[in-house]
Amino acid sequence: MSNIFKADFPILQKRIRNNVITYLDTASSSQKPTAVIDSISNFYLNSYENVHRGMNSLSIDATEIYESTREKVRSFINAKSTNEIIFTKNATEGTNIIANALFSFLEDGDEIITTELEHHSNFIPWMSLAKKKNLTFKVVPILPNGTIREEDIINAISESTKLVAISHMSNVTGQMIDVKKIKASVKKDILFFIDGCQSIAHRSVDVQDLDCDFFVFSSHKLYGPSGVGVLYGKEGLLNSLPTVIFGGGMINQVELDSFTPAILPNKFEAGTPPIEATAGLSAALDYLIENKFENYFDEEIKLRESLINELKNLGNIDIYGVSDDIHASSIVSFNVQGKNYNDIATFLDQYGVMIRSGHHCCQPFMKKLKIPGTCRVSFGIYNSQEDISLFIDALNKTNKLLS
Ligand SMILES: Cc1ncc(COP(=O)(O)O)c(C=O)c1O
Repeated sequence: MSNIFKADFPILQKRIRNNVITYLDTASSSQKPTAVIDSISNFYLNSYENVHRGMNSLSIDATEIYESTREKVRSFINAKSTNEIIFTKNATEGTNIIANALFSFLEDGDEIITTELEHHSNFIPWMSLAKKKNLTFKVVPILPNGTIREEDIINAISESTKLVAISHMSNVTGQMIDVKKIKASVKKDILFFIDGCQSIAHRSVDVQDLDCDFFVFSSHKLYGPSGVGVLYGKEGLLNSLPTVIFGGGMINQVELDSFTPAILPNKFEAGTPPIEATAGLSAALDYLIENKFENYFDEEIKLRESLINELKNLGNIDIYGVSDDIHASSIVSFNVQGKNYNDIATFLDQYGVMIRSGHHCCQPFMKKLKIPGTCRVSFGIYNSQEDISLFIDALNKTNKLLS
C-alpha cells in the first residue's frame, strides 16, 4: 500500500548518497510536513512580534496565533480549559516544573512510584525530588522480556503513595500502558503524572477520559517543530501549585520586596515563549486533524508486527519487549547477535536507512536487560511496508559486511 502522507514531507523526497531516505527514527523526532515548515516562514514574514506585551498590530496578531494554538491543544487532548494548557520548551521542562512545584506538597515518608521503563526525563526529576525531600522512590520492575504489567504498578501502590509518574507508551519497545486501568483500580486520591511523549502521535489522547492530573508531551514528536512542549494539569491543581520559574510574563504585581503571580496559564510561562514554534505546532495540529491521522494508528501497529516477524525470520536477532500480553505500536528494539548496535546503525545509514542506536535515555531499562543499548526502528505516519523491505534489505547487506 502506498503511503498517503509521505509526499507532504519534503525531507523524505531528498536523496542522500543517491539513496532515498528511509526514515525510521520518528520516536526520536518526527519529520515535518510542508504545512508546518510554511507556517513558520509565514509567521516570520507576516506576524512576528513578542506576545502578550504589546499594543501594536503585529504583537496582537502574534498573541492571537499563540493563544489560538493553546485552544487547539486543549481541544486536541480534550482538556476542560485553556488554563490547563501550559506551553513549555519540551516535555522534560514540563516534568521538571511539576516535580519542583510539588516540593512543598510532599512530606518525609511519602512515596513516588515510577517504573523501570521510563525515559530519564520521567525518572530523574522524581528521583531528585525524592532525594531532596526524603521520600520513598519506588521503581516498578519490568519483566525479563522487557515488558511491564499494569498489575505490578497497581500492586506497588501503598498507603504512602502520593504520586504515580508513568509513561503512556514506552520509547524503547512501543508498549502502551493502560493508565485508565491503573487509575480505575486505585481507591485513594493519588496524583497521576503521565509522560505522553510517545503516545501523543500514535493514539488518541483524552485527558479527561484518562482522568490524569498531569500530562506532558513535546511538539517535535507530533510532526511539529522542536522548541515547544505542552504541560497539561488539572486547573485546581495548577492553581494550588507554586510557580517555580520566575521572570517576566508570570507576574501580576511586583514590589521591591514581593510579587504576586499571574493567573493561569501565564503563571507557569516565565520569559519569552517559543512563539514561532507554537505557530508551527498549530499548523501540525491542523494537518493531523484535517488528514484524520488517527485512521493510521492501526497501520502503525501492523508495521510494528510486520517488522517483528521479518526480524524473527532472520534468525540471529534478539528483539525486546515483545509479548502477546501487551498492546504496542510503532517501535521495535533489537540487537543483531554478536554485532554492535552503533555499527549496525552506521552501516544502515550508508543505504539511506536511518534508525536509532544506544540506550534511548533509558539506562535502568537497558541494565535490567543486561545490555548497553539496542538498535531501534520507529515508524511515523509517512512509513509503509516498503520502508520495512528497504530496511531488511539494508540490514542483510550490513550483516554480510560486518561478518
Ligand atoms: C517517553 C519519552 N519521554 C520523554 C522524552 C523527552 O522528550 P523531550 O526531550 O522532547 O523533552 C522522550 C524523548 O525521547 C520520550 O521518548
